[in-house]
Amino acid sequence: MPMKPTEKIWHNGKLINWDDAKIHVLSHVVSYASAVFEGLRCYETKNGPAIFRVREHMQRMVNSAKIYRLGLPYTAEELSNAAAEIVRVNKMNACYIRPIALRGYGDIGVGGLAVPTEVYMACWEWGRYLGPEAIEQGVDVCISSWNRMAPNTLPTMAKAAANYMNSQLILMEAHANGYSEGIALDTNGFVSEGSGENIFVAMDGVLFTPPVGASVLPGITRSTVITLCEEMKIPVREQMIPREMLYIADEIFFTGTAAEISPLRSIDRIKVGKGSRGPITKALQDEFFSILNGTKPDRHNWLTPVSVPMGATR
Ligand SMILES: Cc1ncc(COP(=O)(O)O)c(C=O)c1O
Repeated sequence: MPMKPTEKIWHNGKLINWDDAKIHVLSHVVSYASAVFEGLRCYETKNGPAIFRVREHMQRMVNSAKIYRLGLPYTAEELSNAAAEIVRVNKMNACYIRPIALRGYGDIGVGGLAVPTEVYMACWEWGRYLGPEAIEQGVDVCISSWNRMAPNTLPTMAKAAANYMNSQLILMEAHANGYSEGIALDTNGFVSEGSGENIFVAMDGVLFTPPVGASVLPGITRSTVITLCEEMKIPVREQMIPREMLYIADEIFFTGTAAEISPLRSIDRIKVGKGSRGPITKALQDEFFSILNGTKPDRHNWLTPVSVPMGATR
C-alpha cells in the first residue's frame, strides 16, 4: 500500500516537512525495534473530520511506553491535541494517523535508557485495509504456523514495534499461501488474534472473543464492539477459544482500526457458517458505521472533531 505524502509531520511538538522526518541509521530503534506506536482513523462526518476514540488510543500509547520504561514527555491529552492538529494542518478529511515514540540516537547499548525519545505523528490517506470488498464479502484466512508471543516474552498489551516482527511472519506466510490474513494461536494452542486484528466468533447467538491473557493486543475496536453488544443485547464472553471452534462457528469477524469490522468467509479453506457475512456481523457493522458517518448519535463521545482548538478538552 504506497503512502501518499501529506505536507507536515509533528515532531516533538513542532511541525516539520514530510521529507524532513528522518532518523539516523544508528538510532537505537533501528537495531532493537524500541518503539511504541498507535494507529488511528479519522472519519469524514457531517460535522467535518473527526478522530475515532483518540483519547483511548493515546492512553494505550502512554501505557505501552510505561511498560517499556520509555520516557514519553506528553500526556494522552497532549497527544490527542497533536493528532487533531496534524489532520487540520494537512487539510485531511478521512485519513489514518500514526503516532510513534522511539528511542533515538546517541548510545547503541541495548538498555537504551540513555537515548532521547523522539515522538513523531503523521497522517495520510488510507482505504480499506483488507481490500474494498472485505467489509461485505469477507476474507479467506488461515491458521498460522506461527504462535503469538508467549507470556513473559514480549508484552502483547504494549503496541510495540517489536511485536510486529511476529505479525510480519504471520502475514507473509498467509500471503505466500494465498490467504488474506493469518490467525495466530497462543503458545497454549488457543486462538489469539490476527496479525493486526482481534477476533470475534459467533455461535448459537453468543459472541466469543479471546481474553487479554491469550496474548492479544487490547484493541480499541474490540472494546467498541463489546460496548455495542451490551447495547444491542448480544451476549459476549471473553474466554479461551479452541482452534476447532473456528471451523464450526456460525460467524467470525476481525476488528481493528485498519480492518474495522471485517467478516471471515473461510478458515483453512473451510467455510465459516454459510460462507457469507452473517446477521450478527452485519448488525454490528451497521451500528458501527452509522456512528462513524454521523447517521446515528455518537452517544459515547467516540468521535473528536479536529476543528476543536488546541488545548480544548471535551
Ligand atoms: C496485533 C493487533 N491486534 C489487534 C489490533 C486491533 O486494535 P485496534 O482495534 O485498537 O486497532 C491491532 C491493530 O492495531 C493489532 O496490531
